[in-house]
Amino acid sequence: MKEIKKVIVTGGAGFIGSHAVVELVQAGYEPVIVDNFENSFPIIVDGIQQILGDPVKIYKVDCRDSKGLQNVFDKEKNIYGVIHFAANKAVGESVADPLKYYDNNLQSLVTLLRVMKANNVLRLVFSSSCTVYGSPDSLPVNESLERKRPASPYGNTKRVSEELIEDFVASYPEFQAISLRYFNPIGAHRTSLIGELPIGVPNNLVPFITQTAAGLRNELTVFGKDYDTEDGTCIRDYIHVVDLAKAHVKALDAFLNVDFKGKNEIFNLGTGKGNSVLEVIKTFEKISGLKLKYRLGDRRPGDVPKIYGEVTKSSNILKWKSELTLEDSMRDAWNWQQYLGKINFKP
Ligand code: NAD
Ligand code: WQD
Repeated sequence: MKEIKKVIVTGGAGFIGSHAVVELVQAGYEPVIVDNFENSFPIIVDGIQQILGDPVKIYKVDCRDSKGLQNVFDKEKNIYGVIHFAANKAVGESVADPLKYYDNNLQSLVTLLRVMKANNVLRLVFSSSCTVYGSPDSLPVNESLERKRPASPYGNTKRVSEELIEDFVASYPEFQAISLRYFNPIGAHRTSLIGELPIGVPNNLVPFITQTAAGLRNELTVFGKDYDTEDGTCIRDYIHVVDLAKAHVKALDAFLNVDFKGKNEIFNLGTGKGNSVLEVIKTFEKISGLKLKYRLGDRRPGDVPKIYGEVTKSSNILKWKSELTLEDSMRDAWNWQQYLGKINFKP
């Protein structure tokens, strides 16, 4: 009988973490969620359990609390590895309150690594971001490019975290880490039982589109119409959150087949293809049959004109490729928004 491997999933009640928990169970892993619930709501845990038809193990613990984490490791024996999603992620808030971001994102990582070491848990999958490429000189970006100083304190916590993990593995060669650089995660689970729950006015494009279509926002402002791109709007690599979630299963599998000892191996997780803001809007209009209210406005400070990732390394080593399309993403994001309306959810 195949042994079921137990995996601690910090931030497992969040947007990407919840989708990963579902994929992990479906792939035969046993996820254990550790989350302080500062950016999650009970409907997400309910949704995970409804999809799976079984309860999931959850600890309400802050990753900066070493005693709390140690208690989880004491109770949960034989831990195969940790996926570390827990972090704060709002770019604008990080500019206004950088210490909140350095405190949470770095303290959580340091505390977690200490507890992993004390308990001889040797495998880490870390949530990084394409923001560490800064504004790239050439496209697509690949993992061997030097990191650039990201435009925001949030982005910088990801750059420093990658470096911190590198220093840690160098001192502890039995340990192995994989850092996954996500591009722009969008969409929701096909069942509409889990998805993204932005608090307040969304900063990100897709929730802003779906909230505008649902009548919660007046209109969308397209940030910038005069970039050096085909239609003048910015280009991003939008990746369906379920594809992204599946890559975490592949990363855990890869620890068994590839020797990453003493390394922090980095992988891009994107589609390898860029889409403009106007293309995203058009795709939304096509799948929903609605006309979106939007206007072309000024550029948003800090936005890079164009970024998308090379995905050959993920495909060759992790044996992972995105499968879902932009249409799938927009359909699932829209169904999720409509579900939230139906249950009258107010964050
Ligand atoms: P999210 O906010 O939905 O999920 C993060 C979860 O972590 C939340 O449930 C929150 O309650 C929890 N959390 C935060 N601080 C914690 C702490 N100290 N202890 C325990 N739990 C804590 O965010 P997400 O979009 O799911 O992002 C997950 C990870 O992926 C983050 O590290 C984020 O920086 C990274 N990332 C996200 C994106 C994106 O666009 N969503 C892109 C690149 C990278
Ligand atoms: C996408 C495009 C906007 C809102 C952010 C973080 C990055 C990573 C992913 C975590 C851009 C345009 C947006 C709007 C618009 N997160 N836009 N009107 O900025 O690419 O990346 O999320 O690591 O670090 O910075 O994502 O969804 O905010 O924007 O025109 O109301 O949509 O200008 O071109 P971004 P986004």
